Amino acid sequence: MSGSLVGLERDALEELSKASSRDALQQARARYLGRKGEVAGLLKGLGALSPEERKGAGEAINSLKTRLEEAFDRALEELDEKDKKHKIESERIDVTLPGRYLHPGRLHPVTQVLHEIEEIFLSIGFDVAEGPEVELDYYNFEALNFPKDHPARDMQDTFFVSEEVMLRTHTSPVQIRVMEARRPPLRVIAPGTVYRRDSDITHSPMFHQIEGFMVDRNVTFAELKAVLTIFLEKLFGKTGVRFRPSFFPFVEPGAEVDIRCVMCCGAGCRVCKGTGWLEILGAGMIHPNVLRSVKYDPEEYSGFAFGMGIERIAMLKFGIDDLRLLFENDLRFLKQF
Ligand code: DAH
Repeated sequence: MSGSLVGLERDALEELSKASSRDALQQARARYLGRKGEVAGLLKGLGALSPEERKGAGEAINSLKTRLEEAFDRALEELDEKDKKHKIESERIDVTLPGRYLHPGRLHPVTQVLHEIEEIFLSIGFDVAEGPEVELDYYNFEALNFPKDHPARDMQDTFFVSEEVMLRTHTSPVQIRVMEARRPPLRVIAPGTVYRRDSDITHSPMFHQIEGFMVDRNVTFAELKAVLTIFLEKLFGKTGVRFRPSFFPFVEPGAEVDIRCVMCCGAGCRVCKGTGWLEILGAGMIHPNVLRSVKYDPEEYSGFAFGMGIERIAMLKFGIDDLRLLFENDLRFLKQF
Protein backbone atom coordinates (compact mmCIF):
# COMPACT_ATOMS: atom_id res chain seq x y z
CA MET A 1 0.00 0.00 0.00
CA SER A 2 2.59 2.59 1.10
CA GLY A 3 4.67 1.71 -1.96
CA SER A 4 1.80 2.46 -4.33
CA LEU A 5 1.11 5.75 -2.52
CA VAL A 6 4.70 6.87 -3.06
CA GLY A 7 4.45 5.96 -6.76
CA LEU A 8 1.14 7.78 -7.11
CA GLU A 9 2.49 10.89 -5.44
CA ARG A 10 5.54 10.86 -7.68
CA ASP A 11 3.43 10.44 -10.81
CA ALA A 12 1.04 13.21 -9.74
CA LEU A 13 3.84 15.66 -8.97
CA GLU A 14 5.55 14.87 -12.24
CA GLU A 15 2.39 15.51 -14.28
CA LEU A 16 1.79 18.65 -12.33
CA SER A 17 5.25 19.93 -13.07
CA LYS A 18 4.72 19.25 -16.78
CA ALA A 19 1.33 20.97 -17.00
CA SER A 20 1.97 24.31 -18.66
CA SER A 21 -1.60 25.60 -18.80
CA ARG A 22 -4.51 25.98 -16.44
CA ASP A 23 -6.46 23.42 -18.48
CA ALA A 24 -3.74 20.79 -18.27
CA LEU A 25 -3.43 21.45 -14.55
CA GLN A 26 -7.17 21.14 -13.94
CA GLN A 27 -7.26 17.90 -15.93
CA ALA A 28 -4.38 16.41 -13.92
CA ARG A 29 -6.04 17.54 -10.71
CA ALA A 30 -9.30 15.86 -11.73
CA ARG A 31 -7.45 12.68 -12.56
CA TYR A 32 -5.86 12.46 -9.08
CA LEU A 33 -8.17 14.40 -6.78
CA GLY A 34 -11.54 14.32 -8.58
CA ARG A 35 -14.57 12.41 -7.36
CA LYS A 36 -13.66 9.45 -9.58
CA GLY A 37 -9.91 10.07 -9.38
CA GLU A 38 -7.03 7.96 -8.13
CA VAL A 39 -7.16 9.17 -4.51
CA ALA A 40 -10.93 8.62 -4.32
CA GLY A 41 -10.29 5.08 -5.65
CA LEU A 42 -7.77 4.45 -2.86
CA LEU A 43 -10.18 5.68 -0.20
CA LYS A 44 -12.88 3.35 -1.57
CA GLY A 45 -10.40 0.45 -1.39
CA LEU A 46 -10.09 1.02 2.40
CA GLY A 47 -13.27 -1.01 2.95
CA ALA A 48 -11.48 -4.15 1.88
CA LEU A 49 -8.87 -3.76 4.65
CA SER A 50 -8.96 -5.08 8.19
CA PRO A 51 -9.86 -2.44 10.84
CA GLU A 52 -6.23 -2.38 12.07
CA GLU A 53 -4.82 -1.75 8.63
CA ARG A 54 -7.58 0.68 7.74
CA LYS A 55 -6.58 3.34 10.32
CA GLY A 56 -2.96 3.68 9.20
CA ALA A 57 -3.81 3.48 5.51
CA GLY A 58 -6.61 6.04 5.88
CA GLU A 59 -4.28 8.52 7.54
CA ALA A 60 -1.63 7.95 4.88
CA ILE A 61 -4.12 8.48 2.03
CA ASN A 62 -5.61 11.59 3.64
CA SER A 63 -2.22 13.16 4.20
CA LEU A 64 -1.28 12.36 0.58
CA LYS A 65 -4.53 14.01 -0.49
CA THR A 66 -3.71 17.12 1.50
CA ARG A 67 -0.20 17.35 0.04
CA LEU A 68 -1.43 16.91 -3.48
CA GLU A 69 -4.15 19.56 -3.02
CA GLU A 70 -1.55 21.98 -1.72
CA ALA A 71 0.80 21.16 -4.58
CA PHE A 72 -1.94 21.76 -7.16
CA ASP A 73 -2.99 25.02 -5.51
CA ARG A 74 0.60 26.21 -5.50
CA ALA A 75 1.10 25.23 -9.14
CA LEU A 76 -2.03 27.12 -10.07
CA GLU A 77 -0.84 30.18 -8.21
CA GLU A 78 2.56 29.98 -9.90
CA LEU A 79 0.89 29.73 -13.28
CA ASP A 80 -1.24 32.80 -12.52
CA GLU A 81 1.87 34.62 -11.39
CA LYS A 82 3.70 33.68 -14.61
CA ASP A 83 0.76 34.83 -16.77
CA LYS A 84 0.64 38.15 -14.99
CA LYS A 85 4.37 38.70 -15.39
CA HIS A 86 4.16 37.82 -19.07
CA LYS A 87 1.30 40.25 -19.58
CA ILE A 88 3.17 43.07 -17.85
CA GLU A 89 6.29 42.28 -19.83
CA SER A 90 4.53 42.16 -23.21
CA GLU A 91 2.58 45.37 -22.63
CA ARG A 92 5.52 47.31 -21.34
CA ILE A 93 6.02 50.78 -22.83
CA ASP A 94 9.45 52.32 -22.97
CA VAL A 95 8.63 55.88 -22.04
CA THR A 96 12.18 56.97 -22.85
CA LEU A 97 11.79 56.17 -26.59
CA PRO A 98 11.51 59.26 -28.76
CA GLY A 99 7.92 59.87 -29.95
CA ARG A 100 6.81 59.41 -33.53
CA TYR A 101 6.75 62.89 -35.07
CA LEU A 102 3.60 63.74 -36.98
CA HIS A 103 4.35 66.16 -39.81
CA PRO A 104 1.50 68.66 -39.71
CA GLY A 105 0.27 69.98 -43.04
CA ARG A 106 0.50 73.70 -43.62
CA LEU A 107 -0.86 76.31 -45.96
CA HIS A 108 1.00 77.06 -49.18
CA PRO A 109 2.91 80.38 -49.01
CA VAL A 110 0.63 81.79 -51.75
CA THR A 111 -2.44 80.87 -49.66
CA GLN A 112 -0.84 82.37 -46.54
CA VAL A 113 -0.24 85.68 -48.33
CA LEU A 114 -3.73 85.60 -49.84
CA HIS A 115 -5.25 85.15 -46.37
CA GLU A 116 -3.14 88.00 -45.00
CA ILE A 117 -4.27 90.33 -47.81
CA GLU A 118 -7.91 89.29 -47.33
CA GLU A 119 -7.66 89.97 -43.58
CA ILE A 120 -6.44 93.52 -44.22
CA PHE A 121 -9.24 94.35 -46.65
CA LEU A 122 -11.93 92.65 -44.55
CA SER A 123 -10.77 94.81 -41.61
CA ILE A 124 -11.47 97.99 -43.60
CA GLY A 125 -14.93 96.99 -44.81
CA PHE A 126 -14.32 95.15 -48.09
CA ASP A 127 -16.02 91.87 -48.89
CA VAL A 128 -14.82 88.98 -51.05
CA ALA A 129 -16.27 88.00 -54.44
CA GLU A 130 -15.35 85.37 -57.00
CA GLY A 131 -15.82 84.87 -60.72
CA PRO A 132 -15.32 82.08 -63.27
CA GLU A 133 -11.87 81.08 -64.54
CA VAL A 134 -13.29 80.24 -67.98
CA GLU A 135 -14.51 83.62 -69.08
CA LEU A 136 -16.25 85.31 -71.99
CA ASP A 137 -14.47 87.83 -74.17
CA TYR A 138 -17.11 90.34 -73.08
CA TYR A 139 -16.06 90.24 -69.40
CA ASN A 140 -12.34 89.64 -69.86
CA PHE A 141 -11.89 92.43 -72.47
CA GLU A 142 -14.91 94.09 -74.04
CA ALA A 143 -16.65 95.56 -70.97
CA LEU A 144 -13.23 96.52 -69.56
CA ASN A 145 -12.74 98.93 -72.47
CA PHE A 146 -10.10 96.90 -74.32
CA PRO A 147 -10.16 97.98 -77.97
CA LYS A 148 -10.67 95.14 -80.48
CA ASP A 149 -7.04 95.32 -81.66
CA HIS A 150 -5.44 95.53 -78.19
CA PRO A 151 -2.31 93.33 -78.03
CA ALA A 152 -3.53 91.60 -74.83
CA ARG A 153 -6.25 89.99 -76.94
CA ASP A 154 -3.60 88.36 -79.08
CA MET A 155 -3.29 84.55 -79.33
CA GLN A 156 0.25 85.14 -78.02
CA ASP A 157 -0.99 86.07 -74.58
CA THR A 158 -4.37 84.42 -74.09
CA PHE A 159 -5.47 80.78 -73.88
CA PHE A 160 -8.57 80.68 -76.06
CA VAL A 161 -11.24 78.00 -75.82
CA SER A 162 -13.08 79.49 -78.80
CA GLU A 163 -13.25 82.94 -80.31
CA GLU A 164 -15.57 84.16 -77.53
CA VAL A 165 -14.42 81.92 -74.65
CA MET A 166 -11.01 81.95 -72.93
CA LEU A 167 -9.20 81.34 -69.67
CA ARG A 168 -9.32 84.69 -67.92
CA THR A 169 -6.06 86.58 -68.19
CA HIS A 170 -6.72 88.69 -65.10
CA THR A 171 -9.22 89.08 -62.22
CA SER A 172 -10.54 92.41 -63.53
CA PRO A 173 -13.63 90.76 -65.17
CA VAL A 174 -14.95 90.14 -61.63
CA GLN A 175 -15.38 93.94 -61.38
CA ILE A 176 -17.90 93.77 -64.22
CA ARG A 177 -19.73 90.72 -62.86
CA VAL A 178 -20.08 92.23 -59.37
CA MET A 179 -21.12 95.66 -60.65
CA GLU A 180 -23.74 94.04 -62.93
CA ALA A 181 -25.19 92.09 -60.01
CA ARG A 182 -25.09 94.80 -57.34
CA ARG A 183 -25.45 98.54 -56.88
CA PRO A 184 -23.06 100.99 -55.16
CA PRO A 185 -21.76 101.47 -52.57
CA LEU A 186 -19.35 98.63 -53.34
CA ARG A 187 -16.12 97.68 -51.59
CA VAL A 188 -14.99 94.34 -52.94
CA ILE A 189 -11.86 92.25 -53.39
CA ALA A 190 -11.77 89.32 -55.81
CA PRO A 191 -8.92 86.82 -55.51
CA GLY A 192 -8.46 84.08 -58.08
CA THR A 193 -6.46 82.06 -60.56
CA VAL A 194 -5.55 83.58 -63.92
CA TYR A 195 -3.84 82.20 -67.05
CA ARG A 196 -1.42 83.56 -69.60
CA ARG A 197 0.75 82.05 -72.30
CA ASP A 198 3.99 82.87 -70.53
CA SER A 199 6.62 80.75 -68.79
CA ASP A 200 10.07 81.66 -67.39
CA ILE A 201 11.71 82.43 -64.00
CA THR A 202 9.30 85.27 -63.31
CA HIS A 203 6.23 84.10 -65.29
CA SER A 204 3.99 81.07 -64.94
CA PRO A 205 1.11 80.13 -67.28
CA MET A 206 -1.10 79.87 -64.17
CA PHE A 207 -0.84 82.34 -61.31
CA HIS A 208 -2.99 84.28 -58.87
CA GLN A 209 -4.21 87.83 -58.62
CA ILE A 210 -6.29 89.90 -56.28
CA GLU A 211 -8.53 92.52 -57.77
CA GLY A 212 -10.09 95.20 -55.63
CA PHE A 213 -12.46 98.07 -56.25
CA MET A 214 -14.59 100.62 -54.52
CA VAL A 215 -17.53 102.43 -56.14
CA ASP A 216 -19.75 105.09 -54.59
CA ARG A 217 -20.68 108.73 -54.98
CA ASN A 218 -17.65 111.06 -54.75
CA VAL A 219 -14.90 108.46 -54.71
CA THR A 220 -11.70 110.24 -55.77
CA PHE A 221 -8.02 109.53 -56.31
CA ALA A 222 -7.49 110.58 -52.68
CA GLU A 223 -9.47 107.51 -51.54
CA LEU A 224 -7.45 105.32 -53.89
CA LYS A 225 -4.17 106.63 -52.45
CA ALA A 226 -5.38 106.34 -48.86
CA VAL A 227 -6.70 102.77 -49.14
CA LEU A 228 -3.69 101.45 -51.05
CA THR A 229 -1.18 103.20 -48.79
CA ILE A 230 -2.84 101.79 -45.67
CA PHE A 231 -2.95 98.35 -47.28
CA LEU A 232 0.71 98.34 -48.35
CA GLU A 233 1.90 99.64 -44.98
CA LYS A 234 -0.02 96.88 -43.21
CA LEU A 235 1.38 94.25 -45.54
CA PHE A 236 5.02 95.38 -45.81
CA GLY A 237 5.48 97.86 -42.94
CA LYS A 238 5.98 101.60 -43.34
CA THR A 239 8.61 101.32 -46.07
CA GLY A 240 7.45 104.09 -48.38
CA VAL A 241 4.94 104.05 -51.24
CA ARG A 242 4.88 105.95 -54.54
CA PHE A 243 2.34 106.31 -57.35
CA ARG A 244 3.49 106.57 -60.98
CA PRO A 245 1.22 107.41 -63.90
CA SER A 246 0.54 104.40 -66.10
CA PHE A 247 -1.98 103.07 -68.59
CA PHE A 248 -4.61 100.33 -68.35
CA PRO A 249 -7.65 100.43 -70.68
CA PHE A 250 -10.18 100.12 -67.83
CA VAL A 251 -8.94 103.05 -65.69
CA GLU A 252 -8.36 106.75 -66.22
CA PRO A 253 -6.12 108.02 -64.83
CA GLY A 254 -4.10 104.87 -64.27
CA ALA A 255 -1.18 104.32 -61.94
CA GLU A 256 1.45 101.84 -60.98
CA VAL A 257 2.17 101.66 -57.27
CA ASP A 258 5.65 100.90 -55.93
CA ILE A 259 7.01 100.23 -52.46
CA ARG A 260 10.55 100.85 -51.26
CA CYS A 261 12.60 97.75 -52.09
CA VAL A 262 12.21 95.29 -49.20
CA MET A 263 15.62 93.75 -49.94
CA CYS A 264 17.88 96.85 -49.98
CA CYS A 265 15.56 99.44 -48.35
CA GLY A 266 16.06 101.71 -51.37
CA ALA A 267 19.83 101.54 -51.79
CA GLY A 268 19.47 99.68 -55.10
CA CYS A 269 19.99 95.94 -55.60
CA ARG A 270 19.45 93.07 -58.05
CA VAL A 271 15.80 92.56 -56.99
CA CYS A 272 14.79 96.20 -57.64
CA LYS A 273 17.21 96.42 -60.60
CA GLY A 274 19.06 99.25 -58.90
CA THR A 275 16.00 101.54 -58.71
CA GLY A 276 15.29 101.16 -54.96
CA TRP A 277 11.58 100.58 -55.76
CA LEU A 278 9.40 97.53 -56.38
CA GLU A 279 6.27 97.61 -58.48
CA ILE A 280 3.43 95.97 -56.55
CA LEU A 281 0.09 97.11 -57.95
CA GLY A 282 -1.77 98.42 -60.95
CA ALA A 283 -4.54 100.85 -60.08
CA GLY A 284 -6.63 103.74 -61.26
CA MET A 285 -10.00 105.48 -61.36
CA ILE A 286 -12.56 103.22 -63.06
CA HIS A 287 -12.99 104.38 -66.67
CA PRO A 288 -16.38 106.02 -67.46
CA ASN A 289 -16.83 103.49 -70.32
CA VAL A 290 -16.56 100.64 -67.79
CA LEU A 291 -19.19 102.26 -65.54
CA ARG A 292 -21.44 102.74 -68.57
CA SER A 293 -21.07 99.08 -69.57
CA VAL A 294 -22.67 98.08 -66.24
CA LYS A 295 -25.31 100.84 -66.52
CA TYR A 296 -23.85 103.03 -63.79
CA ASP A 297 -24.09 106.75 -64.54
CA PRO A 298 -20.48 108.10 -64.49
CA GLU A 299 -21.91 111.52 -63.53
CA GLU A 300 -23.36 109.97 -60.37
CA TYR A 301 -20.85 107.30 -59.43
CA SER A 302 -17.08 107.01 -59.46
CA GLY A 303 -14.67 104.43 -58.18
CA PHE A 304 -11.16 103.12 -58.12
CA ALA A 305 -9.79 99.68 -58.91
CA PHE A 306 -6.52 97.88 -58.35
CA GLY A 307 -4.96 94.53 -59.12
CA MET A 308 -1.87 92.66 -57.99
CA GLY A 309 -0.10 89.33 -58.43
CA ILE A 310 -0.09 87.20 -55.30
CA GLU A 311 2.99 85.12 -56.20
CA ARG A 312 5.06 88.27 -56.64
CA ILE A 313 4.02 89.50 -53.19
CA ALA A 314 4.76 86.09 -51.64
CA MET A 315 8.22 86.13 -53.26
CA LEU A 316 8.99 89.59 -51.88
CA LYS A 317 7.62 88.84 -48.40
CA PHE A 318 9.46 85.53 -48.05
CA GLY A 319 12.58 86.37 -50.09
CA ILE A 320 11.94 83.67 -52.73
CA ASP A 321 14.03 84.27 -55.85
CA ASP A 322 12.46 81.80 -58.32
CA LEU A 323 8.72 81.82 -59.05
CA ARG A 324 8.80 78.17 -60.11
CA LEU A 325 9.54 77.05 -56.53
CA LEU A 326 5.96 78.04 -55.70
CA PHE A 327 4.53 75.47 -58.14
CA GLU A 328 6.88 72.49 -57.77
CA ASN A 329 5.39 71.24 -54.47
CA ASP A 330 8.80 70.23 -53.14
CA LEU A 331 8.26 69.55 -49.41
CA ARG A 332 11.80 70.68 -48.56
CA PHE A 333 10.74 74.11 -49.84
CA LEU A 334 7.16 74.15 -48.53
CA LYS A 335 8.16 73.05 -44.99
CA GLN A 336 9.99 76.35 -44.53
CA PHE A 337 6.78 78.38 -44.32
N1 DAH B 1 -5.69 93.57 -64.61
C1 DAH B 1 -4.35 94.12 -64.59
C2 DAH B 1 -3.35 93.05 -64.95
O1 DAH B 1 -3.70 91.94 -65.03
C3 DAH B 1 -4.02 94.63 -63.22
C4 DAH B 1 -4.76 95.88 -62.90
C5 DAH B 1 -4.23 97.13 -63.24
C6 DAH B 1 -5.98 95.81 -62.28
C7 DAH B 1 -4.90 98.30 -62.94
C8 DAH B 1 -6.69 96.98 -61.97
C9 DAH B 1 -6.12 98.23 -62.31
O2 DAH B 1 -7.87 96.96 -61.39
O3 DAH B 1 -6.80 99.36 -62.00
O4 DAH B 1 -2.22 93.35 -65.16
